[in-house]
Amino acid sequence: MLQQNVAGRLDGLKLCLDFRARSRFLLLPNTLNSEAKMFKILFLADVVGKIGRRALKEHLPAMKDEFAPDLCIVNGENSAGGLGIDPSCAGEIYAAGAEIITTGNHSWGKKTIIPYYEEHQDKILRPHNFAPGAAGTGCLIWTSPKGLKVAVINLIGRVFTGELVDCPFRMADDLLASEAADADLVFIDFHAEATSEKVAFGWHVDGRAHAVVGTHTHVQTADERVLPGGTAYITDVGMCGPYNSVIGVNTEAIVERFKTGRPTKFDVAKGDALINGVSIEFDEAQGKASKIERISRVYPVP
Ligand SMILES: [Fe+2]
Ligand SMILES: [Fe+2]
Repeated sequence: MLQQNVAGRLDGLKLCLDFRARSRFLLLPNTLNSEAKMFKILFLADVVGKIGRRALKEHLPAMKDEFAPDLCIVNGENSAGGLGIDPSCAGEIYAAGAEIITTGNHSWGKKTIIPYYEEHQDKILRPHNFAPGAAGTGCLIWTSPKGLKVAVINLIGRVFTGELVDCPFRMADDLLASEAADADLVFIDFHAEATSEKVAFGWHVDGRAHAVVGTHTHVQTADERVLPGGTAYITDVGMCGPYNSVIGVNTEAIVERFKTGRPTKFDVAKGDALINGVSIEFDEAQGKASKIERISRVYPVP
C-alpha cells in the first residue's frame, strides 16, 4: 500500500512537472545577439483582390520601415479575384515584402496554387488540419539571420466554416509537441468564423504559442492583448482590400442578396484601400510577447 501511495505521489509530481514544462515558453537561445532584445512580427490580414495586392505593393515597404519587423507574414487567401490565391498573386505579395503567406478556407480556390503549395512549403501555408494528403503543409520553421527559429502555423476553425477538418485544438497540441517543439517562437494564424472558437483557442495555447492572430471575417476586432501566459492575441486582424465594401465585395451585390434572398454575382469592390494588420513584439529575455498593436489605415486610390 505504502509503495502504491509513493508511486502515486511520484506520478502526480511527474504530471505536475510535465504540465509546468509544457506551459512555459522556451527561453530564446543565449547565442542571439545580446543587443537585439526584441523580435518583431508584422502580420497583415487577408489580402483581397487587386486593390489589396496593390495596397501592399505601394504601402508595405513604408510600413516595414516604420515597424521594423524581423519577419513579415501576410494572409493571402483572397488575393486572386477575392477567392483564392495563385502563383502570380503570391509572387506579388512576396515582392511587396512578405516572407511567408498563410491562407484559409479559400486555399484551394485556384487550381494552379496546388502544386505551388507542394513546391514552396518553406514560405506558403494552408491550414494544417485539412485532410491528410492535402497538398502542402500548415506548419513551417523560418530561421532568422541570427538563428532564431520561428514556427509559423496555419489552422482553420470548425464552427460555421463548413470545413470538414480535424480538430484545430488537438492539432495545435500535436504540432506544439512535434514540429514546433524546438522553435524559439510559435506564431499561429487561426482562420475561423466564430469569435468564441477563436477566443477559446487563444486560451488553449496561452503560454505555449507566442502569438495567435485570428483571420477570415475581414473585420478587425479591438480585443488585442497579451494573455497572462504571454501569448499575443487578437480575434480578427481584418483584411487588406477595398474599404467601401462588404468584407471586400461590392456593396450593391451583397445588399441585394440580403434584400431578395437571391444569389448575386460577387465582385471585388473598387476604390480606396484598407490595410489591416498587427505589429507584435516579443521579449527575447522573457521568451514572451510583450506588445501587440493594431494597424488600420485607409489609403486613397492613387
Ligand atoms: Fe478571407
Ligand atoms: Fe476565409
